[in-house]
Amino acid sequence: MPSTAPAPLDGIKACVFDAYGTLFDFASAAARCPDIPDTARAPLSALWRDKQLQYTWLRALQGTYTDFRQVTADALDFALETLDLTSPSRHSALMALYDTLSAFPEVPALLKILRAAGLKTAILSNGTPAMLNSAIASSGLTGLFDIVLSVDSLRTYKTDRRVYQYALDSLGLPAAAISFQSSNGWDAYAAADFGMQVVWCNRYGQKAERLPGRPTREITSLAALPACLGLTAS
Ligand code: LAC
Repeated sequence: MPSTAPAPLDGIKACVFDAYGTLFDFASAAARCPDIPDTARAPLSALWRDKQLQYTWLRALQGTYTDFRQVTADALDFALETLDLTSPSRHSALMALYDTLSAFPEVPALLKILRAAGLKTAILSNGTPAMLNSAIASSGLTGLFDIVLSVDSLRTYKTDRRVYQYALDSLGLPAAAISFQSSNGWDAYAAADFGMQVVWCNRYGQKAERLPGRPTREITSLAALPACLGLTAS
């Protein structure tokens, strides 16, 4: 029997993106830091990211919010010490590189396609406004988003449902009119559970989460998003 492509997502008015790991490559910080031994780059990126996310969840749960820049710096401290790489200059170099992460290669063209099709584009991220604006500018994405939303206004982190509600309130749209893209399985599942249509950009080959919610589609690069929205032939 010939396989048929799934029907495009219906009724989408806005595409909302997670930032880190989805639009911006967090591994590009350690990859561009000359002071990190080659063999330590991947373990450092992984531990830094894991700890950063754990701290967001724990602080949201405990009600001890501090902003994502501080969480990112604390997680970096932990990761450098664990890997026996502690050094103040390395720490400041890596934090500066985190402000100028590379975008994944398909991202600029994708945003132009979505905007040309009349869709709104937005970021919904744990990052602070300053971190996000800096990454947008340094990766050449200036002018390609209608709105950049940071959890910092809410003083909590994903997956607090107020974060997803903030996107609806800011865009003036119902959840079902939003296509939410995240490379983080836990974020994708939470947004789906909230009611958004979700395209999980599973860049890192994660297994399915055992959590509430089910992403509508799974892709491995954002280059496949226009086809999910019926904007190009698949
Ligand atoms: C963000 C993290 C979770 O941008 O990737 O919100």
